Amino acid sequence: MANGCPLQDPLLTEGTRDNTAPNIKTSQLIQDLNVLDTIAHITHERIPERYVHAKGVGAFGTFEVTNKDFKVSDYSDAKFLSEANKKTRLFARFSTVAGEKGYPDTVRDLKGLAFKLYTEEGNLDWAFLNPEIFPIRDPSKFPSLVHASKRCPASNLPDATMFWDYFNNHPEGYNALMRIFSDEGTPVSYSALQAHSVHCYTFTKWGQWKHTLVRIKLVPDRVIDPAKDYFDLAGAVAKAGADPDWLTRRLYCEIDAARKGDPGCQFPAWKVMAQLVQDPSQSTVNIFDSTKILSEKTFPWKEFGKITLTECPQNFFTQVEQAAFNPANVVPGWDISPDPLLQIRLFAYGETQRYRLGVNNDQLPTNRPCSYVYSPTRRDGAYNMTNYANARNYIVPGDNSHPPQNYNTSFLQWSGSLERFKSEINSVDYQQCNDHYLGLSETMRKHFVDNVVASLSTATKTQQDKALGQWTLAAISPQLTPS
Ligand code: HEM
Repeated sequence: MANGCPLQDPLLTEGTRDNTAPNIKTSQLIQDLNVLDTIAHITHERIPERYVHAKGVGAFGTFEVTNKDFKVSDYSDAKFLSEANKKTRLFARFSTVAGEKGYPDTVRDLKGLAFKLYTEEGNLDWAFLNPEIFPIRDPSKFPSLVHASKRCPASNLPDATMFWDYFNNHPEGYNALMRIFSDEGTPVSYSALQAHSVHCYTFTKWGQWKHTLVRIKLVPDRVIDPAKDYFDLAGAVAKAGADPDWLTRRLYCEIDAARKGDPGCQFPAWKVMAQLVQDPSQSTVNIFDSTKILSEKTFPWKEFGKITLTECPQNFFTQVEQAAFNPANVVPGWDISPDPLLQIRLFAYGETQRYRLGVNNDQLPTNRPCSYVYSPTRRDGAYNMTNYANARNYIVPGDNSHPPQNYNTSFLQWSGSLERFKSEINSVDYQQCNDHYLGLSETMRKHFVDNVVASLSTATKTQQDKALGQWTLAAISPQLTPS
């Protein structure tokens, strides 16, 4: 029993029986303590699923400093970056975004690629994305974007009209749609995907009062062949029916095969790269606009690390479902930035996790830092497991007798007037759509059109016409006929 009392046999039930009339006069006693306890528990087994990114898979591995193209410790004081070959343990979770927990993995969607690095200075969380940009730059649009990508409130069905109606009215999202509707939106494996920070973060050097805005991307360590590594429309649709958990299974299989040393099998691995934005005035787009990529020519990508995943989880619920990634989890030397979307994310993740997992979710095994934590005013609350015994629950000057050498503080100077505004749509919003389309191979362009038509053909004629209007603005609509 849960109270520690041994059971004669957990499958016995306690009831009344009339041996002269088997099966008729038989009943169950409600005083059967074992049955009561286990039934009461199973009816409470489910916790709320993540509101977005509900379907996911996780694995453990390491981050290693490579300093291949530059010495990252010249820009950041973070101890886990201090020297080449230094390794830090991490947990990764990959997810689809709009679908629920049981949704098929190969339905077209953005993908979340989240990493929790257990550094000696606390947990650093990267909640990254594929593609490299997000459909919005104004946080106030997030609820509309999510509602329109999920199910219709009346029918509870995914609804293409809702989806296209949203994007046709908020066309800054078209740049992300260009990527989502390419074959990269239906990868064969999570290990074939790039992961992007989307926002700028800030590398800081405490002693030199130096800060450098930086976007991060993870690039698969193996060569990616779109023909083999991405599904086309027919392949994705077939796989959704044949194996709805394809991406989940595939990650486990890749790790298991590499552990066994199967010929030609490698652990999933990524190069970690930085786009250092030393002079933001060189950018032709707002560097805090999540719907835009930053020019690679102006701000070249440079490699400084490597991530390798080597261990499957031992328990999905404890390690993957209870994982709580939060962009607010940063460490000295790796700071946030003023990007408006990032600022609101600093609130959203902890807030939803207090609802989904409880106020003490940071004490769960998968979220607990490996560094020393002493936070005596955080007391009590549901399921508190480390409550500092009889230590003082308030702080007085001098309590922090071993302050850290480096810590994050706001390095950026703010100026400007307080305003209420909505960002406006202009020609720059369409330019990157066009650039992306022109960068696709002939086959990928055809597939892009097939993928769009499959979705748009189920929306109303009004939304089809509006979508064609948007692509005309991006100067790519004439090619929008299926192959
Ligand atoms: C205003 C913008 C956004 C808001 C309000 C928001 C909110 C959320 C929320 C509430 C969750 C669920 C977290 C949980 O239950 O643990 C989530 C998950 C996630 N978000 Fe966002 N999000 C935003 C934009 C973004 C962007 C721009 C990225 C990528 C750069 C991103 C990446 C992720 C990832 C990877 C997860 C899944 C984490 C996991 O595996 O548990 N989100 N987001």
